[in-house]
Amino acid sequence: MPVRLVVLASGSGTTLQAVLDAAAEADFPATVVAAGTDRPGCAAMKRAADAGVPTFSLALADFGSRAAWDDALFASITEFEPDLVVLAGFMRVIAGETVQRFPMVNTHPSLLPSFPGAHAISDALAHGVKVTGVTVHRVDAGLDSGPILAQVAVPVLDSDTEDSLRARIQNAERPLFISTIRQLCISIEESRE
Ligand code: GAR
Repeated sequence: MPVRLVVLASGSGTTLQAVLDAAAEADFPATVVAAGTDRPGCAAMKRAADAGVPTFSLALADFGSRAAWDDALFASITEFEPDLVVLAGFMRVIAGETVQRFPMVNTHPSLLPSFPGAHAISDALAHGVKVTGVTVHRVDAGLDSGPILAQVAVPVLDSDTEDSLRARIQNAERPLFISTIRQLCISIEESRE
């Protein structure tokens, strides 16, 4: 039985697309059973739907409280019985109860613990660092703070804009994220034996 992935995303979904493309390969040890978002209508959910993957959308504004949204996210994820939850540009911190219930992995566009949060690339540029990168890490209840699984360094050029640096980071990010997910899935498969 392939490992079951639920992927959460908030944006354009190029990272989600890399996961969908990997999962479409015959030898990939996982299948994407659902994709979810906090931003209804985002391009990421269209990519999932185009791949025939069920989606769920939970806008915080549609819930009476943050706790109600947390509960709805927990319920939506649980419905798909994932072995691993993959955060592919999901831009909200996930409640501790959910993080503790499901193994969860995130990718972040900096060398953590530098530049956590939603503006990692512009923060790195503003700080004037000459090297930044990508961190793939297990998720805890903090902001981009779980145990680090893999990192890759990416140079910052004097000529960089946010867009050019993002493109260089994301080119390094996709293979690192996919290879780390693959390893996690193999470990999950082995733990079943
Ligand atoms: C990715 O680069 C990911 O590292 C970042 O969002 C981007 C999503 O891009 N995540 C974070 O910043 C999490 N703190 P995409 O919408 O093109 O996949």
